[in-house]
Amino acid sequence: MASIHILWLPFVHFLVMVAKIHGAKIPAIIVFGDSSVDAGNNNYIPTIARSNFGPYGRDFDGGHPTGRFSNGKIATDFISEAFGLKGAIPAYLDPGYSISDFATGVTFASAGTGYDNATSDVLSVIPLWKELEYYKDYQTKLRANLGDRKANDIIREALYIISIGTNDFVENYYAIPGRSSEYTIREYENFLVGIAGNFTKELYDLGARKISLGGVPPMGCMPLERTRNLLGGNDQCLDSLNNVAAEFNVKLNDLVIKQNKEFHGMDMVFSDPYGILLEIIRKPAVYGFEFTGVACCATGMFEMGYACRGINPFTCLDADKYVFWDSFHPTEKTNGIVANHVVKTSLAKFF
Ligand SMILES: *[C@@H]1O[C@H](CO)[C@@H](O)[C@H](O)[C@H]1NC(C)=O
Ligand SMILES: *[C@@H]1O[C@H](CO)[C@@H](O)[C@H](O)[C@H]1NC(C)=O
Repeated sequence: MASIHILWLPFVHFLVMVAKIHGAKIPAIIVFGDSSVDAGNNNYIPTIARSNFGPYGRDFDGGHPTGRFSNGKIATDFISEAFGLKGAIPAYLDPGYSISDFATGVTFASAGTGYDNATSDVLSVIPLWKELEYYKDYQTKLRANLGDRKANDIIREALYIISIGTNDFVENYYAIPGRSSEYTIREYENFLVGIAGNFTKELYDLGARKISLGGVPPMGCMPLERTRNLLGGNDQCLDSLNNVAAEFNVKLNDLVIKQNKEFHGMDMVFSDPYGILLEIIRKPAVYGFEFTGVACCATGMFEMGYACRGINPFTCLDADKYVFWDSFHPTEKTNGIVANHVVKTSLAKFF
């Protein structure tokens, strides 16, 4: 089966062309979230939630581990490219980049973090409120560098992408004692949606208008969850966990509808990776995949981060045959398909 990349690349090139002719409508992409969109911020903080070593990044720009939790690019890199911006969004804490690089795109994301402060505590990563503090610092630097007028244009016209929430469930609520004795799962979802709403409100108050609030993936299909629950095979996912994800996504979508009505000029969309990922997992051959239940790295059953490090005889040779790169994170190929999906659906209005 032909790779889906072949099908969608002309579309992306068309969008790039449109963006160039009309002058870039989106001057920058500004990202908040977890490992789904971290490009290496965690390399600069003391945490074990890292991936700046091989085989991570083995297909990134000719083989270059960056701190992205994949063999290559993550979804936001593809989205940036689709908008005619650079092909990789740099991490804010990376001293190799300056404010002039960040003026067209930056990520404040931190692998292992969540909406809930208690989630970021688990692996000592950057809490969401601190990502926002870094963003305020970014605004100050942007104004100092470009002047108020140009900086304010970028702040207002940029696309803000938020991708977070999975860890609140799998690393916190269902993994450690605490939140599960305080809240039922429904109450916990509502608690998280409350934090999400406060966060997007704060972004709005800081000048953001175009916001993509991301849903969570079908978490019960991650190889780690299948292993934990002894669900072998390609098509068995933990339905109970998938149902929580689907339910949480409905609540996030409701929040988007509500805030668009409430805040004048707010242009927020809900971007949903759930449906497309489940479709890929159910019909892998259609997308050119062979393996959905185990990941490429090491045994593919539970390894991620340091456990995935180095040369392992089980690590696969061709990551493009796998939906998942490690037991938690998609391969570059999957990331490209998901990015293409949101570019054509929720994000299409921003071109
Ligand atoms: C998370 O921690 C920050 C900093 O201490 C605090 O301002 C914020 O209210 C906390 N959020 C929640 C939901 O408790
Ligand atoms: C959201 O903000 C409101 C108003 O500042 C506050 O009362 C509430 O506790 C916050 N909710 C969460 C979940 O942090």
